[in-house]
Amino acid sequence: MDDFFGGILFSLILVISYAVTAKGQNVTDSPSSSCDYPAIYNFGDSNSDTGGIAAAFFPMAAPCGETYFHRPVGRASDGRLIVDFIADDLGLPFLSPYLDSVGTNFQHGANFATGGATIRRPNESWFQTGVSPFPLDIQVEHYTQFKERSAYFYNQDKVESNKSRLPRPEDFSKALYTFDIGQNDLAAGFQKMSMEELRATIPDIIDQYATQLQGMYDRGARVFWIHNTGPIGCLPVSTVKVQNPVPGYLDEHGCIKSQNDIAKEFNKQLKEKLVQLREELSDAAITYVDMYSAKYGLISNAKKHGFEEPSKICCGIHGVDNDVWCGNKATVNGTEVYGGSCAKPSAIISWDGVHYTEGANRWIASHLVNGSLSDPPVPTTRACHRQI
Ligand SMILES: *[C@@H]1O[C@H](CO)[C@@H](O)[C@H](O)[C@H]1NC(C)=O
Ligand SMILES: *[C@@H]1O[C@H](CO)[C@@H](O)[C@H](O)[C@H]1NC(C)=O
Ligand SMILES: *[C@@H]1O[C@H](CO)[C@@H](O)[C@H](O)[C@H]1NC(C)=O
Ligand SMILES: *[C@@H]1O[C@H](CO)[C@@H](O)[C@H](O)[C@H]1NC(C)=O
Ligand SMILES: *[C@@H]1O[C@H](CO)[C@@H](O)[C@H](O)[C@H]1NC(C)=O
Repeated sequence: MDDFFGGILFSLILVISYAVTAKGQNVTDSPSSSCDYPAIYNFGDSNSDTGGIAAAFFPMAAPCGETYFHRPVGRASDGRLIVDFIADDLGLPFLSPYLDSVGTNFQHGANFATGGATIRRPNESWFQTGVSPFPLDIQVEHYTQFKERSAYFYNQDKVESNKSRLPRPEDFSKALYTFDIGQNDLAAGFQKMSMEELRATIPDIIDQYATQLQGMYDRGARVFWIHNTGPIGCLPVSTVKVQNPVPGYLDEHGCIKSQNDIAKEFNKQLKEKLVQLREELSDAAITYVDMYSAKYGLISNAKKHGFEEPSKICCGIHGVDNDVWCGNKATVNGTEVYGGSCAKPSAIISWDGVHYTEGANRWIASHLVNGSLSDPPVPTTRACHRQI
């Protein structure tokens, strides 16, 4: 019975949702057609940074990149990230980081994400805490400059423009805008305040997020694909430090429950805010994507999906009171040790205790792109059709 009505509801949502297409996209297209994005513009943190923070500061150390790129390419993983798989699924190339000055091609988009980025402006410096000096509002500022300056140079360069490494100015309004940020606002909060204090700051974090989304709309973005935040309490770098937990501190899969509860509260408020934004931004197609469920679904059923124990870390050595980060050396118990990688990264979910392996990212992306975890339930390829 439930399934039957669920099915009807699902179809209804699909039918209604196809009534309008976000402006900039081809409104004469049939609603079920593919959106044909010419470009992707991504904003976020290390979960989707394809080399921004590495270009701004220091390159990523080997063995990062070993599985797919066979060299470090600024991604905190052994290979591709979720945003790479999304680009691939849309038939678009991997995104060059805006901050990279060498070897870039922005014809089909750019990546403004930087590892350590937050939604709110941080008070600490990168040198002290590793938090990115390029929070979301600065990423939006980078986008603004990118859009204006690339249009200027593209137009100057018309003859050469089919060889241009810059996007066509008319493509900005038809592009897909992807967002994956918030995890570091929560992580910073865990270190600085009580759970109650952190919980009380979530509305402000979400408001600042919405302000930037609105800003992107004002700058012509129309199709928004917004990942919620993952189960931060499951990150092995934290769970490995838990000793003799009181009953209920960890959930049945070994994740820190209070941290995941904060992530869920963030996600709940984000989802509500997006409902409101859909009404306010009359030409926008906004999709909320439940990244949390994808990641938690993998972690809670790791074996079934072909992965080992989800608390395992592939690269680096992390104990109760020592952290030898992936690719680094350190002295532990009087001996110099190297935080190298595991024999079979494809069998492990966590690459370095915080970030996911390429294998996990592939699994997660495959569950995101078909829309089964989206609200509304549209795949990436059809996310340009505005909901009513
Ligand atoms: C929209 O689609 C129609 C039919 O496929 C095509 O003829 C037209 O050129 C498209 N318009 C734009 C602006 O892409
Ligand atoms: C930074 O410090 C100011 C002043 O103490 C405070 O209001 C603000 O919330 C802090 N920002 C973050 C991200 O913690
Ligand atoms: C532009 O593309 C056309 C068709 O592919 C090609 O013939 C022409 O040489 C290109 N022009 C430049 C300047 O690259
Ligand atoms: C260091 O010593 C402690 C206590 O003997 C042990 O539990 C831990 O595994 C050792 N760490 C490494 C990296 O060998
Ligand atoms: C989406 O893809 C995943 C992974 O391939 C699959 O398990 C799931 O059934 C798909 N859902 C839909 C609605 O197609």
